[in-house]
Amino acid sequence: MDGNGRWAKKRHLPRFAGHKRGVDAVRSTVRACVRRNISHLTLFAFSSENWRRPAEEVSLLMKLFRAVLERDVDVLHEQGVRLRVIGDIEAFDDHLQNLILRSMERTAGNTRLTLTIAANYGGHWDIAQAVRRALAETPELAVHPERITEAHLARHVTLADAPEPDLFIRTGGEQRISNFLLWQLAYTELYFTDTFWPDFSPAELDKAIASYQQRERRFGRTSEQVEAGETGPPYLSGAHTEC
Ligand code: FPP
Repeated sequence: MDGNGRWAKKRHLPRFAGHKRGVDAVRSTVRACVRRNISHLTLFAFSSENWRRPAEEVSLLMKLFRAVLERDVDVLHEQGVRLRVIGDIEAFDDHLQNLILRSMERTAGNTRLTLTIAANYGGHWDIAQAVRRALAETPELAVHPERITEAHLARHVTLADAPEPDLFIRTGGEQRISNFLLWQLAYTELYFTDTFWPDFSPAELDKAIASYQQRERRFGRTSEQVEAGETGPPYLSGAHTEC
């Protein structure tokens, strides 16, 4: 969700005004996904690197995150949205951590859309925590590292139980992944738009989906194989085959 700061600057407003308008874009995008029967939406709200921003901006972003959870969870619940937060939430204050856990519990039974907020999240962190969890689950892997397979990590990265993402959208004109879902994006279609996040609308979402629909997903196979109906993820079995 990039471009909040530049959206505000263009209007001679403080950066935070852009983040506030960014929340409106979050709300309309969530509604649009529900209407389009999209099963999973994952938003990168705060990266592990965003702590490097000026303290005032970090503090305002935390307040905004709190306010959104306090105000919006009822509406999300009514829409049938299951809320998840991924990332190292222990870095947040107790109040915010409790709000996150309560919001996830409250909406855990919903099935219409899984909305995942990545907060204090980094793709490198995700892979490192997956290694730690794999070793905790199977301590012999520490003695026999040659037995560690991709499937061990695939089971423990965040979103292991979710489908692999079909489409990645980055707003704001930059063309990079910036430590988002590094493991999970291996075969995801990438879409970049110059639109700043606060201006991202359902029509923009439809443009991204239309672009996705033009792509041929080969997962390492040839076009001929795909045309013959051989589909599915490239190399993993288990956790990801149901996607
Ligand atoms: C990047 O734009 C945006 C962020 C670091 C924050 C995103 C947060 C929100 C949209 C609001 C909170 C959302 C939720 C789901 C609670 P930028 O500031 O880097 O923009 P710039 O590149 O134009 O400076």
